[in-house]
Parts: sequence; C-alpha cells; structure tokens
Amino acid sequence: MLNTWDDYPEFKATTPFDILYFKQLIPKSFKILELGCGYGRILSLLENEGYFNLTGIDSSIVQLNRAKKILSKTELINCDIRLLDYPQNEYNVIIALGVLDCILFMEDIKNVIHNIRLSLKSDGYLFVNMYSKNSDTLSLEKYNLSEEIYGENGIILGNSGIMFHHYNDEDIFSLFSDFVILRSEHKKFWSFNQKKQVNGLSLVLRVKK
Ligand SMILES: C[S@@+](CC[C@H](N)C(=O)[O-])C[C@H]1O[C@@H](n2cnc3c(N)ncnc32)[C@H](O)[C@@H]1O
Repeated sequence: MLNTWDDYPEFKATTPFDILYFKQLIPKSFKILELGCGYGRILSLLENEGYFNLTGIDSSIVQLNRAKKILSKTELINCDIRLLDYPQNEYNVIIALGVLDCILFMEDIKNVIHNIRLSLKSDGYLFVNMYSKNSDTLSLEKYNLSEEIYGENGIILGNSGIMFHHYNDEDIFSLFSDFVILRSEHKKFWSFNQKKQVNGLSLVLRVKK
C-alpha cells in the first residue's frame, strides 16, 4: 500500500535553502507563496526574518497542522498544487522545495509550472529544489521499470512508500524555459529517510521579460 505525507507526522525536510541569499534578493514586504510548505520549516524561517506577506499550501492536513503550531503570520491553505486555482499576477516570490518532484507525470508538472508563471508578477522570483536522476544501478532499474509501467522514465517508489519523479537536468531546464536562471547548483540532497545522499538541483529563477 502506498504511503502519503499524512503518514509521516514527524518528517523532517532536508533540501537546502540559502536564507542569506534570499534575504539579499527579496524585500521584506514582498508577497510570498510556498507550494508544498509541509510543516512550515521555510515559512517559520521567513517569519523569524521579518517577512509577513506569506501563504503556504500543502495537500497534507497532518503537515499543515504541524505548521499551524509554529506559524503566526502565514495564511495556510490545504490544497493539491495541481488543482489550485492560482491567482494571476499575484506573487513576487514562489518557493517550491522538494514538492515538484512529488508530481509524477510530465503533463501535470508542466501545468503546475505554467500556473506558477501566471501567478507570479512580471518580475517575480521562483525558488526551486528538485531531486534529479541518479546513475546507480538500482535507480536506473527503477526508472526503466517506470517507463514500462507508466510510459515515463523516472517515476519511483521511494523507501518511504511515497512516489516521486526524478526528472533529468535537460527536462528540468526545459520545464523552466519561461524563466531566466539566476542561480543553478547541482547538490547532494539527503534522501527522505536521511540515510543516503542523492542528486538534486537548486534553482533560483526569475520570470523572463
Ligand atoms: C519533501 S516535503 C517538503 C516540505 C517543504 N517544502 C520544505 O522544504 O520544508 C514535500 C511536501 O509537499 C507536499 N506535497 C506533495 N505533493 C503535493 C501536492 N500535489 N500538492 C500540495 N502539496 C504536496 C507534501 O505533503 C509535503 O508536505
């Protein structure tokens, strides 16, 4: 049986976030949306730094209930980011760390990124962390199996029982072709159970004029 994020009430997110860089780039008054905000790890950091125009969205009520306990200035919305009615031209900043890779199918992730683009103001910023493809034999076997089952290479069942899609770099960059890349860093991210380090990409993007 598949697990969901509701099955991990003590889950700790691990992908990196460079708060110093964020603070240099983003004024305190900016309107910020975090997609897949989980238990509020990033939003609480932002609240503590003096950001106050904050919204977080997550499909897991368990994670949002955790977030409610540590956040005081953030509006929280329980919704699937594939189904959200995105307000247009609304946000200065959208943050999506370790959530776009939870979207299994290329068609869905394209739609979400299209909606992110429309929801950002014309000079808006997008901060993304995405797990990307690994080259070890076990991962390659899983990716190939997913091609047979789903017709897409890269959909995997993690050890946690949650499914993810590891996209390759080429796909990731083509997904963000409506954006200018301000910063792109290949990094090692901790896996969900924090037992091994796997490939990841941290991106800071800005809407293309
Ligand atoms: C790896 S955690 C990252 C949490 C947070 N972004 C952070 O870095 O601290 C992924 C989060 O995305 C949420 N999530 C996964 N798929 C989602 C979807 N389709 N819509 C909204 N939230 C989703 C999960 O419930 C979980 O809280």
